Amino acid sequence: MLKITNLKKTFNPNTVNQKIAMDNVNLHLEKGDFVTIIGSNGAGKSTLFNLIGGCFLSDEGQILLDGKDITFMKEHKRAAHIGRLFQDPLKGTAPSMTIEENLALCYMRSNKKILGIGVSKKEKELFRERLAQLDLGLEDRMKSKMGLLSGGQRQAVTLLMSTLVAPKLLLLDEHTAALDPATADKVLNITKEIVQEHKITTMMITHNMQSSLDLGNRTIMMDSGRVILDIKGKARSQMTVPDLLELFKKESNKELDNDRMLLAK
Ligand SMILES: Nc1ncnc2c1ncn2[C@@H]1O[C@H](COP(=O)(O)OP(=O)(O)OP(=O)(O)O)[C@@H](O)[C@H]1O
Ligand SMILES: [Mg+2]
Repeated sequence: MLKITNLKKTFNPNTVNQKIAMDNVNLHLEKGDFVTIIGSNGAGKSTLFNLIGGCFLSDEGQILLDGKDITFMKEHKRAAHIGRLFQDPLKGTAPSMTIEENLALCYMRSNKKILGIGVSKKEKELFRERLAQLDLGLEDRMKSKMGLLSGGQRQAVTLLMSTLVAPKLLLLDEHTAALDPATADKVLNITKEIVQEHKITTMMITHNMQSSLDLGNRTIMMDSGRVILDIKGKARSQMTVPDLLELFKKESNKELDNDRMLLAK
């Protein structure tokens, strides 16, 4: 499904600020895999997503998505197949447009329809149905402006927008980190439901080590631009958070220095 081979990225090469952010990463995801990603600050987690999403190109290596080589594909072209959510709930939606308009825009884009023909009754019904599944009462607020919603509500709608037409790959970069714990839980549950229902291949960066073991079917740990741990199956189901911390220490020869991660409940 997703096949990453020998991926390398160095920022500011040959300067004092040189930073090897991706150090020969190899990763192979099966269709329907839900991979959680943890790691220290600056480990290269977001860089990996930026390379997959096409924010910038890799120095070396190859990225295949569903058999297609996307290594040099333009970002907007990849966006048709790759959904992406960020930590900041303000990213990804148009605040001055209504919930309905935001959803319609996404739907039309994914369906390659011409913009400006308005929202049909059938589409409105679909949006209402999908919003109702979020269980946040937003199906009755379709004419509300996105900017008026709370952070959690916005993240839930952004998630819906990214998956209205199921993407080949969904990238979630700490998308609940800016939310209060109860809302974060709710958005995580919604994430789980949507991903399961549509069997979307998903990668989720999280700073919550317990969530990294509870959600999905596979966990990878990154440090200094490398994948230092990749667990699934029985080894993963038996793993505990203290085990993870111990493994991090063993594989990286240092203590975990992700402050958000250590402070998480
Ligand atoms: N556009 C860029 N230009 C220069 N350096 C960058 C750029 N993007 C990332 N880096 C550097 O590359 C390294 C990896 O950064 P990255 O954002 O991928 O870390 P991360 O694992 O997502 O960390 P965090 O948990 O703090 O979000 C860091 O040292 C960072 O400063
Ligand atoms: Mg990051």
